[in-house]
Amino acid sequence: MIEVRNLTKRFGATVALQDVSFDVARGEVLGLLGPNGAGKTTAMRIIACYFPPNAGSVRVGGLDTQKDSVAVRQRIGYLPESAPLYHDMGVMDYLGFVGRIRGLREPELGRSAREMVGVCGLQRMAHRTIGTLSKGYRQRVGLAQTLIHDPEVLILDEPTSGLDPNQIVEIRDLIKQIGREKTVVLSTHILPEVEATCSRVLIINEGTIVASGTPAELASQSPGEARVFLTVKGTPEGVEPVLRRSGIATDIRLVDTDDGRVRYAIGSAEEEPEEKLFHLAVQNGWTLTELQRESLSLEEVFTRLTTRESVTP
Ligand SMILES: Nc1ncnc2c1ncn2[C@@H]1O[C@H](COP(=O)(O)OP(=O)(O)OP(=O)(O)O)[C@@H](O)[C@H]1O
Ligand SMILES: [Mg+2]
Repeated sequence: MIEVRNLTKRFGATVALQDVSFDVARGEVLGLLGPNGAGKTTAMRIIACYFPPNAGSVRVGGLDTQKDSVAVRQRIGYLPESAPLYHDMGVMDYLGFVGRIRGLREPELGRSAREMVGVCGLQRMAHRTIGTLSKGYRQRVGLAQTLIHDPEVLILDEPTSGLDPNQIVEIRDLIKQIGREKTVVLSTHILPEVEATCSRVLIINEGTIVASGTPAELASQSPGEARVFLTVKGTPEGVEPVLRRSGIATDIRLVDTDDGRVRYAIGSAEEEPEEKLFHLAVQNGWTLTELQRESLSLEEVFTRLTTRESVTP
């Protein structure tokens, strides 16, 4: 549905995006995750035709954002970082106004505005002035305006930022529900948000994509090499030389000796170090009591990939 190819965007000397490519399939909810200044907003603005890239291209539903900008905009609902609301307008008046700009006319206009009020849980607020609403309800009005022309693609820049925990849960549920029918790209700093709402994640750092996958895939793939915990009955003198000679490990650390057992943290560049270690244990007659790959939380993956230490080898 969205094809992003080799995007580069510079602001003076700042390179906000550097040769970024990715695809978003129809019906996918893609999360862009990255620290401040990573380039998330810049990427979303280019997709939403807010400004063009210096190099590269974006196609939405097969249409080029630069050549067919108007047609692309009709297919996209865009919620910027701070939703563009007129604070002195009523909720229904505002939705009617935005709908008219997007080409809707009565009777669809009224029908669509009422439907969005329902979808976004704004029934009790429909006749209030936007300026008197709480931030969470304003965010719902922002979402309603992105949806009013029934776009196929939604681009949501930090849709839950600044909301209280209850509202965050409600807006996430709303996005998930919307995401069943539409293609969604959203940005966030909040890791649990990605796990809760996204089918796939791109981690962006300093203008480039440093990882992509489902939240579960990201958590299971640590960058660089795998670390496995091995506990066997035995002594360091008996076990460690065998481990070293096996060539399976690039790094061997004794973590614990207890009750006739030794526990090692083993770094390995092998694809399946567990399998090799299992056979080694069998060959040497070790009683194996633990053999487990270290699993990182999404948070640890994010930290490893977006801090400078990890960038320099
Ligand atoms: N209009 C602009 N003029 C100059 N520099 C800009 C402009 N917009 C973005 N930048 C720069 O481009 C880089 C990427 O910014 P961007 O807003 O895309 O980051 P972000 O990932 O959305 O960050 P945040 O999480 O803080 O929203 C930053 O270094 C930023 O200062
Ligand atoms: Mg941003």
